[in-house]
Amino acid sequence: MRLKDKVAIITGAASGMGASTAQLFASEGAKVVVTDLAIDQGSAVAEEITDTGGQAHFVKLDVSSEVDWRNAVSETISIYGQIDILVNSAGISGSHPDQLNTNTWDEQMNIYAKGVFLSMQAVIPIMQKAGRGSIVNISSISAFVGQAYVHMGYNAAKGAVRLATKSAAVQFAADGIRVNSVHPGIMPPMKDAMMSADPEARRIRIAAIPAQREGRVEEVAYANLFLASDEASYITGIELPVDGGYLAI
Ligand SMILES: NC(=O)c1ccc[n+]([C@@H]2O[C@H](COP(=O)([O-])OP(=O)(O)OC[C@H]3O[C@@H](n4cnc5c(N)ncnc54)[C@H](O)[C@@H]3O)[C@@H](O)[C@H]2O)c1
Repeated sequence: MRLKDKVAIITGAASGMGASTAQLFASEGAKVVVTDLAIDQGSAVAEEITDTGGQAHFVKLDVSSEVDWRNAVSETISIYGQIDILVNSAGISGSHPDQLNTNTWDEQMNIYAKGVFLSMQAVIPIMQKAGRGSIVNISSISAFVGQAYVHMGYNAAKGAVRLATKSAAVQFAADGIRVNSVHPGIMPPMKDAMMSADPEARRIRIAAIPAQREGRVEEVAYANLFLASDEASYITGIELPVDGGYLAI
């Protein structure tokens, strides 16, 4: 068991890569705090884990709320007594029909840039006291390149996640805390995706990937598992693409 006795908080764990990561971490022995805005779906993920013999607990958490973060951390400590791992997977799609929409810019920065900052603000003091911790921030290939169908707020916010990760890695390495980012490529569309639903646009995007297919959520979950585990004990501040070669071209 690669995460035996570890406690992991996972955001956006009601769906997609967050849900897959929660299931995989629990199967590797972690006690998983499944968090999301979506109460029914998030509770269902936690229940599935406990029904199959794992340990999990659902907490409603809006990643852009400082108060929610404080509550989630204190609930985790009161139930499981420690926090060893944080995976930030929560998010909303970057596709928007109006590429110059201001609300979209604000939403993207709020959820990704601010949300990831608030998460680290909440858990790092606990990890510092324990002298250990691993944080995995899900960014995107969109932190490296622009894309015609993606609002620039998404690229900018994912870029902020990439650099905030490195900043935290450097600042807290001496406390035994590792912080890394994972960069998924073209994956199954996000829950709220609009434009990626266009099958022709999606076919063209997939044809441009060296691996000639979209990624699977568990392929990101396995990258998260490696970085979260002690197997990656000397790895911090890296950016790991899981993209079928998208960024290698
Ligand atoms: N799917 C893709 O194509 C793709 C590609 C690259 C990167 N990513 C990134 O991977 C991560 C996971 O994406 P996914 O495909 O699993 O998406 P998803 O839509 O399946 O899951 C995202 C989850 O985040 C939750 N969420 C949304 N806003 C929230 C908030 N304010 N607070 C808490 N939870 C919130 C949603 O309820 C949902 O359950 C995201 O950060 C996304 O930007 C996705």
